[in-house]
Amino acid sequence: MLSLEKVEVAIQGARILRGVDLELPAGGRLALVGRNGAGKTTTMRAIMGLVPLVGGAIRFDGRDLARVPAHRRTALGIGYAPEDRRLFPTFTVAENVRLPAELLGLPRGELEARLDRVFELLPELRELADRKAGALSGGQGKMAALARALVTGTRLLLLDEPFQGLAPALARRYGEILARLVERERAMALLVSESNPELLIPFVDRVATIERGEIVGLAPAPRLAPP
Ligand SMILES: Nc1ncnc2c1ncn2[C@@H]1O[C@H](COP(=O)(O)OP(=O)(O)O)[C@@H](O)[C@H]1O
Ligand SMILES: [Mg+2]
Repeated sequence: MLSLEKVEVAIQGARILRGVDLELPAGGRLALVGRNGAGKTTTMRAIMGLVPLVGGAIRFDGRDLARVPAHRRTALGIGYAPEDRRLFPTFTVAENVRLPAELLGLPRGELEARLDRVFELLPELRELADRKAGALSGGQGKMAALARALVTGTRLLLLDEPFQGLAPALARRYGEILARLVERERAMALLVSESNPELLIPFVDRVATIERGEIVGLAPAPRLAPP
């Protein structure tokens, strides 16, 4: 479904991604793990069309995404929760979550059905729906950013360091939500990054390691011992 082939990204003349190859089939769950500055965010931004490629290609269902402008990529069923959340602070939570779906011009019934499914997964967001995004705590903001990504990301979901900065109780809750999500959306592909893979192991089937803009390892996720 998603493939990165020898993707090269340069920023101000500096090579940031060097020949990144990644494959993600429908229903695949891939962790992208690497320390700060390794290139995780740049990989996600490249998939979303937010940084130009200087080499290689990114395909979605075989289609070269170079021909799909950034603002049309969500229409393909791709959702992205950036590490810095990027919510509109003066809009309410509900408005932030609806906005990308409204921009797609989804029929009203389809939009409401998607919102219902998202709020069913994240019931705590219903209580925050009328709050301004600028007034959310960091953890609440992460939930709202996940909800927004889910509304468009019916086929492919990109989560950039979702656990980063979450207090332990919220990280556990976020983990529960992800577990339910991957259980419910069997055909959805998931690409999720972290600097520490431990939190991701329960939700992924493979772990790709990135170092200085290069994929240096790809391994099946270790299976947890049965309880
Ligand atoms: N807008 C930018 N301008 C200059 N350098 C950048 C920019 N974005 C990323 N970089 C550099 O690219 C490298 C990879 O960054 P990033 O993809 O954010 O890594 P990660 O998400 O793994 O921490 C880092 O060396 C970072 O300094
Ligand atoms: Mg990053």
